Amino acid sequence: MLQSASLMPMQHLPKNLFGCPYLQLAPMEGVGDACFRRAIASIGGFDEAVRDFLRVPRNPHIESLAKAYDPQELFPIPLAAQLMGGEAELMAQMAAEIERRGAPRIDINCGCPSNTVTGKGAGSSLLKEPHLLHEVAKSVVKAVSIPVTLKMRSGYEDTSLFKENLLAAEESGVAYITLHPRTKVEGYGPPANWALTAEAKSILKIPLVGNGDILTVQDALNMLKQTQCDGLMIGRGSLINPFIFQEIKAHFSKTPYSIEWEQILDYLRLYLNAIGINTPQKTRVGKLKQLLGFLFKANPYLLEKRESMLRCQYTDPEDLLQFSLPLLKEGFSCSC
Ligand SMILES: Cc1cc2nc3c(=O)[nH]c(=O)nc-3n(C[C@H](O)[C@H](O)[C@H](O)COP(=O)(O)O)c2cc1C
Repeated sequence: MLQSASLMPMQHLPKNLFGCPYLQLAPMEGVGDACFRRAIASIGGFDEAVRDFLRVPRNPHIESLAKAYDPQELFPIPLAAQLMGGEAELMAQMAAEIERRGAPRIDINCGCPSNTVTGKGAGSSLLKEPHLLHEVAKSVVKAVSIPVTLKMRSGYEDTSLFKENLLAAEESGVAYITLHPRTKVEGYGPPANWALTAEAKSILKIPLVGNGDILTVQDALNMLKQTQCDGLMIGRGSLINPFIFQEIKAHFSKTPYSIEWEQILDYLRLYLNAIGINTPQKTRVGKLKQLLGFLFKANPYLLEKRESMLRCQYTDPEDLLQFSLPLLKEGFSCSC
């Protein structure tokens, strides 16, 4: 008898022809929304993306909530759906609906630090109770035939339940785990603790995706070397440098990769178009500024100009773009 995909223990994550590990774009609620995902998909280089979480509340209208997820959004790049909630049965129902919509994979959020979320027993608060984490994950695994994965922080207040949580997740039947090695309480304060990623790798039989503080190709290589993890997930590093995935791939294939200025222009144009002209101008300016705020962290030249970009008072996104483009061009000229 054929086992359903979610019941088959996954041994490996795929590598490309040149040995580059599986690269994923991280879920980033707010800033890493569909507009950003569409824009960065034009540059490409990542093998899969994970949508920012869909919250499963206590009294959900499953069908209408699930409509926020479009599995074709980045076609042909797969987009996994991430669910966040603390009620096993509701999470299972939502997972089944998401599978019906065509999801390639469902990820369970055990990392969100927001107090509104943790107060409701979801996100990182599942890390306080490994048996609950197990119950939620197991019920999602049972509800669908696509792979289910779990993304977690290293703990809630501390890492005392780290190993228990990893084993609870593995036991539940998830295909692999993504680890952001900071506790909920740490937020984004201290550096991601990659030693914990190495420890997780030594504990788990299922694959592990390493995440946290990968900002350069060298960081990616260091993470792989120090932790032996099976795949990489990158979040903020891809907002600062949307070419990072292509650069990592190029490193493995030993082909030079040069950034063309036109790609940056296309990226920004696509982003603005994706926001749409029906969105209020103020919101469009705010969103563009937020994205530019990350690009202006890319090097010391841009960092020096960042404040002036953030402080400018344009009310039309085109004006903000015209102000920023010469600075970006100058800043990127070293890498273009
Ligand atoms: C603005 C923002 C929103 C995030 N939203 C999510 C989310 O929806 N789901 C999730 O699992 N992690 C979320 N994260 C965490 C990231 O996916 C990632 O684990 C974390 O930023 C560390 O990776 P990085 O150093 O590559 O950014 C978010 C992070 C940021 C900065």
